[in-house]
Amino acid sequence: MTSKIRIGALISGGGTNLQAVIDTCEAGETGGQVVFVGSDNPAAKGLRRAERHGIPSFVVDYGAIIRRYRQDPTTVALPSDFNLDEMHSKSRLFPVDADAATVKAFLETRAAAESDLLAAMATYDFDLLILAGFMRNLTPYFIDRVNTNPTHPRIMNIHPALLPSFPGTDGYGDTYRYGCKLGGCTVHFIDYGEDSGPIIGQRAFEILPGDTLEDIKSKGLEEEWKLYPACIKLFAQNRLKVETRIHSLPGGKTMERKVVAISA
Ligand code: GRF
Repeated sequence: MTSKIRIGALISGGGTNLQAVIDTCEAGETGGQVVFVGSDNPAAKGLRRAERHGIPSFVVDYGAIIRRYRQDPTTVALPSDFNLDEMHSKSRLFPVDADAATVKAFLETRAAAESDLLAAMATYDFDLLILAGFMRNLTPYFIDRVNTNPTHPRIMNIHPALLPSFPGTDGYGDTYRYGCKLGGCTVHFIDYGEDSGPIIGQRAFEILPGDTLEDIKSKGLEEEWKLYPACIKLFAQNRLKVETRIHSLPGGKTMERKVVAISA
């Protein structure tokens, strides 16, 4: 038997996806094992799920760091290897005309929090990091320190919509309000943008006349609990590789896209 991959998870809330991953890992269905759970939110209910399964956990309280920064930025220690201009030029989280002070505050508070996250994670050896309802955008500061091989990124996220439709924090709400007839969920690798990284897998469900937002959320979560373990299994089998594809467009233009190739 080949050894299991070691999975770290970051959560912010209830952790039903985390539970699905823990359960399928314990049942031997993914080829992985969850070795730590981290959260930005000390009150995240999902932390108790980790505890029930004997999985170590830690919290980096983003809210407290951001509040301290707002009161007095000098009280928030920035990592010595943080470079604001470099991070701003890499990040794709901001519009080009974004207010410089807002960008600075965002990137500095996140770098402080992310450096604490990296320090807590350094205790564990891990192959894959999964974001399971982690409601914080990660910046290049963190991403570049976890992803060291461009063709084999190792931070996955689950999103409650069929990307590239409806990125952001309320995928099911946006799907509902738009009057979509299909909803779905997506697992993708993280890149420097918001919910914009290469897609690993998707599952869809039908939205019936009369379905409420709650119906859509519960149908969606059912699909998420199947999709995340399936994508983790592909990773554990070493079947995922990111390729850069160049496409010709009308007018002689070209477009470059990074996509996940899944080997047989
Ligand atoms: C899920 O809908 C996930 O797609 C989104 O946040 C929700 C988290 O739910 N990113 P849970 O904490 O896993 O129950």
